[in-house]
Amino acid sequence: MKKLFVILALLALLVACAPQKPVQPVVEKVEEPKASFNVNPPAEVKTEAAPVEVTEAPKAESSGPQTVKVDIVGFKYVPASVKIKVGDTVTWTQVDTVKHTVTIVAGPENFDSGLLTAGQTYSHTFTKPGTYSYKCTPHPNMRGEVIVE
Ligand code: CO
Repeated sequence: MKKLFVILALLALLVACAPQKPVQPVVEKVEEPKASFNVNPPAEVKTEAAPVEVTEAPKAESSGPQTVKVDIVGFKYVPASVKIKVGDTVTWTQVDTVKHTVTIVAGPENFDSGLLTAGQTYSHTFTKPGTYSYKCTPHPNMRGEVIVE
């Protein structure tokens, strides 16, 4: 009798020490919504127009300073007139075999490229608004302008 008790006690101990079964996560059964075949919306639902998303045009300042190109070709500045913003740069590219200059005639700032040979470029960054008239020193009939806003 005592032996049986010891065995039972050992068994009880074994059961107590046995690793607990991991608790199974309770998976809740989610009922799938039944497809509604009601085509017509309820009368009380107002069909409002979707709000119009206003996309602001990017400001010129946010896109950073720009560089505008002007060619010196055929005794002309092409284009002869460019409109830019303060901080922008104009780069002239001399194409003709004859030498030309980009020389200020009137404007808030002075600049002069000096004689440019074919293939040379000259750049000027405009820091003050206004209209800049320029010419070619050897060929004063060559005229151009930069309008800085
Ligand atoms: Co010239």
